[in-house]
Amino acid sequence: MIHAVVKTARVFFGLKCEEFAMMTIPDGYPSDSAGAFAVLGSRSKLGPDDLKVLAMIEAAGEAFYFQVADGVQDPRAKELLRQNGREERGHAYRLVKILRLQTGEEWTVPSAEDNPFLSSAPATLPAVTPEFIALLEQGEADGDRLYQVWADGAPDPEIAKLLRLNGREESRHGERDAEVIRYLTG
Ligand SMILES: [Fe+2]
Ligand SMILES: [Fe+2]
Repeated sequence: MIHAVVKTARVFFGLKCEEFAMMTIPDGYPSDSAGAFAVLGSRSKLGPDDLKVLAMIEAAGEAFYFQVADGVQDPRAKELLRQNGREERGHAYRLVKILRLQTGEEWTVPSAEDNPFLSSAPATLPAVTPEFIALLEQGEADGDRLYQVWADGAPDPEIAKLLRLNGREESRHGERDAEVIRYLTG
């Protein structure tokens, strides 16, 4: 998912990330998800703050996919998009586990209302087009590629394994997105 999804989400739903709950974003990261993700994309390994930022972006991805699912009629497409959303939440939890393994810190992902990468205002739902889903598919491929880079940079094999799992699931999300496009165009 992540980069293109969240970046597109901001454009798509007109989110204004600067306006709420910036205090949960660690120092040194932009307050918008696309900018924060660009910083993460420049990393070859993830430190504690990187893990927190990425976990919040992943959690925002759940809400985002659920909203996209609400915007399609086909029940098969809807379920695939919701599956992707649920797994984005799982990615956030995996990152919390990695943080614990790496530092011993007990940290929890903020709720949707407190997640700085989500608007607290209810988003309106525009039409979800195949072209839009294709952007998500591309974002998922980018997500997998980055997770493999971060796994390569992780000295702890358990952490590397968890990062690779997230990455593989991003590719699976892309496959589901491609299936959604077939349902929307078929
Ligand atoms: Fe994803
Ligand atoms: Fe993810």
